[in-house]
Amino acid sequence: MKRALCFVSMVGLTMIGCAVGPTPIPEAQSPAALLYAEKCGACHAVPHPKRNTAAEWQHLFVLMEQRMIERNIVALTDEQREMLMSYLQNNAR
Ligand code: HEC
Repeated sequence: MKRALCFVSMVGLTMIGCAVGPTPIPEAQSPAALLYAEKCGACHAVPHPKRNTAAEWQHLFVLMEQRMIERNIVALTDEQREMLMSYLQNNAR
C-alpha cells in the first residue's frame, strides 16, 4: 500500500514537472516549426524564437550553418533556409 502511494505521488510530480517544463515553440505543429525542431534541435535543445531579436537570429543563423558544415550535417536547401529564417524572424523577440 505504501509502495502504491509512493508510485502515485511520483507520477504526479513527473506530470507537474512537464507542465512547468520548457515553453513550447510557437505554432509547434506547423511545417516551419517542425522543420525548425528537426534542424535546430539536432545538436542542442531547440532554442525558443523569443530568445533573440530578428537581427540576432540573422547573425546566429550564419554561425549555426557553419556548425552544421563543420560536423558534416547535410546543409540546408535555400527553401529550408528561407522557411526557418522567416519562422525565427516572425516569432523573434
Ligand atoms: C551541428 C550542430 C548544430 C546545429 C545543427 C545547430 N546548432 Fe546551434 N549551436 C551549436 C553549438 C556547438 C553551439 C555553441 C556555440 C557555438 O559554438 O557557436 C550552438 C549554440 C546555439 C545558440 C546559442 C548561441 C549564443 O551565443 O547565444 C543558439 C541560439 C543556437 N545554437 C541556435 C541554433 C539554430 C536556430 C539552429 C538551426 C538553424 C541551430 N542552432 C542548429 C551547434 C548546432
